[in-house]
Amino acid sequence: MADILDLDAEVVAEHTADLIRWLPVDRPRQVVDLGCGTGAGTFALLAEFPEAHVTAVDTDVDHLRRLRDKACELGLADRVTTVQADLDTTWPDLGTPDLVWASASMHHMADPARALRQVHDVLAPGGLFAVVELAGFPRFLGTDLEDRIHAASDRRHADLVPHRGADWGPKLTAAGFTVEAERTLAIHLPQSEVVGRYALAGLRRMRGTVDDVLSAEDLAAFDDLLDPHSPTGLLHRTDLAVRTERSVWAARKA
Ligand SMILES: C[S@@+](CC[C@H](N)C(=O)[O-])C[C@H]1O[C@@H](n2cnc3c(N)ncnc32)[C@H](O)[C@@H]1O
Repeated sequence: MADILDLDAEVVAEHTADLIRWLPVDRPRQVVDLGCGTGAGTFALLAEFPEAHVTAVDTDVDHLRRLRDKACELGLADRVTTVQADLDTTWPDLGTPDLVWASASMHHMADPARALRQVHDVLAPGGLFAVVELAGFPRFLGTDLEDRIHAASDRRHADLVPHRGADWGPKLTAAGFTVEAERTLAIHLPQSEVVGRYALAGLRRMRGTVDDVLSAEDLAAFDDLLDPHSPTGLLHRTDLAVRTERSVWAARKA
């Protein structure tokens, strides 16, 4: 998963920077990245806000280790604090941030309403909460087979992450925020070497979730796509592209 997060960060880096620049926030100093993963948001926030310190929170120690290593490599270690915490349980002390960023993480919370209230509690008065979400994993092929793979995977995920693809506006309002702005960004990127690697890693991961759901014929075609030696496999295709979306809610605490 860490590799997929890194590949996603690389592929959509420009769009992430664009979303951060769009946020109605002025030179935040204390920023929290909730469910930071390997640091896609953390490093983009550090780049856009040169005066900011980011507290990066995640439950996964390997993701946090990768993030810390990268911060050291980039000479940013003194601007990042990593905190290992399960946000479904007791929240750690996160100070009083003026910006909280949560990208593709809120839908993982067992009780998102509680998590949103917790963010409201910790934010400084007038602070901003940016929730970034995506409806599903990106598309790379645009074929009927890919549609069936996604439908099968979505059925599996419906129980595991029921809040994925939700409208976060009403949830934020219920938690006490004023939603100041909302935006959906359509992302369409042409084939490149990194897009190929991203497609292969992402679809390999999906393969494990559709074993008992797809037909034998679809599974055989799926395995052929993933086979690095197959002439019709993903690595030999020249028609790959990333098609995905990011939705963002900018929510203010009074
Ligand atoms: C899809 S990843 C997104 C990572 C990163 N924000 C990004 O945009 O690349 C979701 C992240 O949320 C973290 N996460 C899921 N449930 C969590 C929880 N209960 N507490 C803290 N982190 C959690 C996962 O470990 C994972 O790193």
